[in-house]
Amino acid sequence: MQPNDYETLSQIVKKQSGLVLTPDKVYLLESRLLPVARKWNLTSVAQLAESIRLRPNPAQIRDVTEAMTTNESFFFRDTKPFDLFRDTMLPALLKARATKRRIRIWSAASSSGQEAYSIAMLLKERGAELSGWTFDIVGTDLSTEMVERSKSGIYTAFEAQRGMPARLLVKYFARAGDKWQISEDLRKMVNFRQFNLLTDLSLLGTFDIVFCRNVLIYFDLPTKTSVLAGVAKQMSDDGYLVLGAAETVLGVSDKFRSVPGQTGLYMPTGGAGDARRTA
Ligand SMILES: C[S@@+](CC[C@H](N)C(=O)[O-])C[C@H]1O[C@@H](n2cnc3c(N)ncnc32)[C@H](O)[C@@H]1O
Repeated sequence: MQPNDYETLSQIVKKQSGLVLTPDKVYLLESRLLPVARKWNLTSVAQLAESIRLRPNPAQIRDVTEAMTTNESFFFRDTKPFDLFRDTMLPALLKARATKRRIRIWSAASSSGQEAYSIAMLLKERGAELSGWTFDIVGTDLSTEMVERSKSGIYTAFEAQRGMPARLLVKYFARAGDKWQISEDLRKMVNFRQFNLLTDLSLLGTFDIVFCRNVLIYFDLPTKTSVLAGVAKQMSDDGYLVLGAAETVLGVSDKFRSVPGQTGLYMPTGGAGDARRTA
């Protein structure tokens, strides 16, 4: 690939999604964008870059951007965030929202939906204890293909079993040919929609819990900072933010503070329980 083709494509992807493609990702660009080029009846990635330079076409640009996203996800990924959800965040919020009885949860960058469905399963497991409560679980991702997959709730046998306790697989999934589908009950609990984290987050409303995991790692520092500032604005004062294992707010955003002793868990700065608020 010529340097100007790499420039065209990496700049488009960065502008559309925030994803940074360093020069060592040229091979990745080539391999992921060749199918996109063919879809558009072009014979090479160089022709695709040329086409975008000469006649920028929103649908083509979207295909390029989506093809460069990394959609790796699995049920109960990293375990710890889901333990924190069950043992720390949920008890605190059940207490704090005892009158309102409504909790809003956002899986930002939800990919193929496993994170949002893992949360839904944990809530279902609480059974009658949570009757009378409303849980809005919203899953959003840049990729329309991932959002459609999430809505279908259909997973390959490998995906369904990866990270999933056998007991929950039996309880919440049904065979769908050689695949597995999440029960309708759980599918109804999550609202998936296409959404770009670089756009106006206020359209999504306010959340009590935000899982924003394994997406900031693909952004540069200014983009991370601005996305976290946007997320902070959409959170209740006593809400919780969960980041991925390789992500932190330290040196990135002053809008959140770590929850002591709880790795990967953050709360809005100046919110309820923050000593600095009253200092
Ligand atoms: C590696 S997956 C993370 C999935 C899940 N959060 C997890 O930790 O398992 C990253 C996801 O971020 C999405 N993504 C990348 N840039 C985005 C953006 N600007 N807005 C929304 N989603 C984005 C990708 O489409 C991809 O599905």
